Amino acid sequence: MSGYEFTKKLETGNAVIDKEHRELIEAVNKLLDACHRGEGRASMDTTIKFLNNYVNQHFSHEEQLQRESGYPGIASHRAFHDQYKKTLQEITNAISVSGPTIAELTKLNKHVRVLISHITTEDKKLGEFLNQK
Ligand SMILES: [Fe+2]
Repeated sequence: MSGYEFTKKLETGNAVIDKEHRELIEAVNKLLDACHRGEGRASMDTTIKFLNNYVNQHFSHEEQLQRESGYPGIASHRAFHDQYKKTLQEITNAISVSGPTIAELTKLNKHVRVLISHITTEDKKLGEFLNQK
């Protein structure tokens, strides 16, 4: 399974953000691989923990860039991040408890697509703003 790909469409023009998005997609693919290969609980939980930590760190990092640059869209961007982290945690907890059921994997894939669409819209706006600074 090839998973998600970091394409040109996802580039925000900010090197740091783009690098983190690339790694984030890699972490998602690792988790999906682990689920599809039917890996044991311990190994899957490590991948789950890594993904959640990475998302949290990356979002904080983006918020820091927004604060430092006086980005006007910070409140709504941050609200999105908060909700996103919460839902990701819920989905991955369920996968950890009940295993990667079709229902949970469908939710996870849908949630990944939400992030991809956030990257191509909101993060792109942020990238453009940072580049004008
Ligand atoms: Fe973002």
